[in-house]
Amino acid sequence: MKEIIIKIAQLLKGFTLILKPHLFLGWLRNPLLMISNTISLSRWIAEQDKHDILNDFYSFKRNYAKRYQLYQYVINKLAVNETAFDYLEFGVCHGESIKWWVANNQNKENSFYGFDTFEGLPENWGTFKKGDMNANIPVIDDERVSFFKGLFQDTLPDFIASQPMHNSKRKIIHLDADLFSSTLYALTSLAPFLKKGDILIFDEFNVPNHEFYAFKCFTESYYIKTKLVAAVNNYYQIALMIAE
Ligand SMILES: C[S@@+](CC[C@H](N)C(=O)[O-])C[C@H]1O[C@@H](n2cnc3c(N)ncnc32)[C@H](O)[C@@H]1O
Repeated sequence: MKEIIIKIAQLLKGFTLILKPHLFLGWLRNPLLMISNTISLSRWIAEQDKHDILNDFYSFKRNYAKRYQLYQYVINKLAVNETAFDYLEFGVCHGESIKWWVANNQNKENSFYGFDTFEGLPENWGTFKKGDMNANIPVIDDERVSFFKGLFQDTLPDFIASQPMHNSKRKIIHLDADLFSSTLYALTSLAPFLKKGDILIFDEFNVPNHEFYAFKCFTESYYIKTKLVAAVNNYYQIALMIAE
């Protein structure tokens, strides 16, 4: 019986491919992926331990400035300033968030690394078009800060090869590139260097087909466990700690 079911499934799959369904059902790919990822996001949220965290769910109004509360909460809650850390930001644009981190963390041993094309998004993202969000490299008068201009896919390999990535400093990785591809690339590149206690911050986590989907693919492929520390704007911005 099992063999017959497998045979029928194989025939159906082959027949489906012969029909070239992308030609007439291609438009369904994104909405169906969106439905699937929204269900996964909902399940992920339900599974999180929400005891003793910052969480504003459900808020009727989105207030983008709440992300600064989230940053400060993370700093206090995880005693971030007790030791020096490396802050890596993927998606810098005009530098609003990296400027906040530099200004609010004065330890001279901290390092701040910002990665961006500085020529805008490399792909369309929702209503934003490729090339939107282009900006000049921000000017930050602080020798602890360095910027890497170009696609992450081009700049990150050299960065990783030239830095002591296995150092004992805590890593704070801020993912604000919006796109699935960019977020997944940054996470998978840094996976070998992540350790317990490192922090991941997402700026658009609850966008189902982008940052959330990248996080889902990443954690499921690398068997990475995280602990939710803070979430604002209905999980739009979140902070997680690497648990194991
Ligand atoms: C939302 S903006 C960053 C905003 C910034 N963190 C802030 O809060 O002010 C997203 C940025 O990601 C950059 N980006 C997206 N994918 C990228 C990639 N693969 N390589 C380099 N930069 C990328 C875009 O150029 C854009 O400037």
